[in-house]
Amino acid sequence: MKILSVENLEKSFGDLQVLKDISMEVNHGEIVSIIGSSGSGKSTLLRCINRLETIDSGKITVDGQIMVSTENGKVQYANNDILNEIRLKTGLVFQNFNLFPHFNVLKNITQAPIRVKKVPKDVAEKEAMDLLKKLGLENRKDAYPHQLSGG
Ligand SMILES: Nc1ncnc2c1ncn2[C@@H]1O[C@H](COP(=O)(O)OP(=O)(O)OP(=O)(O)O)[C@@H](O)[C@H]1O
Ligand SMILES: [Mg+2]
Repeated sequence: MKILSVENLEKSFGDLQVLKDISMEVNHGEIVSIIGSSGSGKSTLLRCINRLETIDSGKITVDGQIMVSTENGKVQYANNDILNEIRLKTGLVFQNFNLFPHFNVLKNITQAPIRVKKVPKDVAEKEAMDLLKKLGLENRKDAYPHQLSGG
């Protein structure tokens, strides 16, 4: 099943065209790596998919919902309800990972599900601990970002 589709995406910053007719698909359960030299536009592509950049033309579909499409050269984004639904299904881990410096590990992991998805705190914390255990990091749950290594 197709979970993400990008069609003929174009994005420029001023005179610099970064994304030139980019098309790709990701199917459910698939893990896709985008590789390329520094400055080739990998982050820009991800930012367009997360709506952190607006596109110049093309079409992006997430889990069957059209996020943005282009008809006769006019870019049309979905309404806010659909964009919010799509936002709940997409996540982006930033290159400089942007953790909350004043929250410990457990709180950094549980803020989004508790605040955005209204998951009860105890459920979110259990899920977070399960994830930390998978990575052998459960003993670091109370640590703050500055006490941890980058990775
Ligand atoms: N907001 C912006 N305004 C102007 N130029 C930008 C902007 N964002 C990115 N660029 C430029 O677009 C190009 C692609 O940048 P991008 O960050 O997408 O590359 P990247 O493939 O992720 O690189 P890296 O491997 O270093 O992370 C670069 O030339 C960058 O300077
Ligand atoms: Mg990048």
